[in-house]
Amino acid sequence: MPRTAEEFLSPPSVPEDCYVSSSVYTDPDLYAEEEEKLLRRTWKFVCHVSEVPNIGDYRTHDWTGVPLVTVRSPDKKVRTFVNSCSHRGSRVVRYPAGNMKHMTCFFHLWEYDLYGNCTYQTRDEGYEAHGPTKEQAGLREVRTDTFCGLVFMNFDGNAAPLREYIGETATAFESIFGENDFEIFHLNRTHMKGNWKAWFLTNCDFYHEWGHQVNRSTNLTSPDYHDRPWRLNHAQGHGYTARKLDNEPFVVQYKNYKGWKNRDGLVLRGLQPGELVLTDLFPNTSVFMRTTCVRINHSTPYGPDHTVMEERGLGIKGESEADRRQRAKEFTQVWGPYSRNGAEDVAFVEESHRCQEFGANKYDVISRNEPIGDGLQRPQSDAYVRLFYDKWGDYMGRPANNPKNLMTAAE
Ligand code: FES
Ligand SMILES: [Fe+2]
Repeated sequence: MPRTAEEFLSPPSVPEDCYVSSSVYTDPDLYAEEEEKLLRRTWKFVCHVSEVPNIGDYRTHDWTGVPLVTVRSPDKKVRTFVNSCSHRGSRVVRYPAGNMKHMTCFFHLWEYDLYGNCTYQTRDEGYEAHGPTKEQAGLREVRTDTFCGLVFMNFDGNAAPLREYIGETATAFESIFGENDFEIFHLNRTHMKGNWKAWFLTNCDFYHEWGHQVNRSTNLTSPDYHDRPWRLNHAQGHGYTARKLDNEPFVVQYKNYKGWKNRDGLVLRGLQPGELVLTDLFPNTSVFMRTTCVRINHSTPYGPDHTVMEERGLGIKGESEADRRQRAKEFTQVWGPYSRNGAEDVAFVEESHRCQEFGANKYDVISRNEPIGDGLQRPQSDAYVRLFYDKWGDYMGRPANNPKNLMTAAE
């Protein structure tokens, strides 16, 4: 039966933790609050260490509107600085990536070393009377740390250390990242008219595999598809899914993919041929360890309705050119950004967003419940999505089903 106007405006008839107000995806005030209370207080993925292997190698990026530069300093440590000159605020480093000996601001040529110290002020005698001295004019350094070769940063000096933040989810990484010496071979950026949470939760939502033409013939035809549980890290808001309950690997039926060749020779150490391990780190980093490649998805929001998704591919350092070509081909054709899946995922997020934006959809339903035993849930359950919004509520100080504290039509 179609819903009446009143029913349409009322929350769905499910428990309160099983739906989300669409305003969490569209409201500019909520987005500004998210920047302050959540995104500036959690660890943000920056890059893989192989992107800055040598002293002076850098990458620029943004977070919550703040330009940043991450660089390998002469002491070999990877450091992050707010990429804004202490003089009049210009961005200091203006290229996406490269190698530098020091950082020179192009506006009035102040200079900084790779530790963020200000080392040169043009005609510095002009600052003798009132300052600032060079000692007072360094760049702002931001906490930066690495785990399994993944570089993260955090604006919040009081946040728990990175290893504590990764928590028990570390076990999903360590066996694979500990066994393989990875390096990046692919980086792709996609702009989306959609919300960063919707993108991240699409990566965590196995129910939407029904929407992917490729997955319908590969993942979903595996007889044991529903036999592996979500492992939820309630303390930190992370989730991962790997082995089945009997500890056997879950193997995707890639042989059903048109044009698939047996590529077992390139399988990563720690994985079986066809095996998939997925790790979702709150609030927005997904690491797919998938047979022959690692894919890292991370997004940067620029507002409630503009998200830039970054997708990285990792292979084995020092491998032959032929192996790398094969691995890269597999990454891009089967599960990378140029496969059907990448484009389909963007379409899923943008289609939902256009309805949420103008009020055609008031609530998201996240009520799927698929118990598998031992208190665990099957992959197509919404268990992880509910955990994500539970954590979101902790940071924001109120639940996602009524985040604006609005009266509903039912009240
Ligand atoms: S703004 Fe950087 S030197 Fe003036
Ligand atoms: Fe998808």
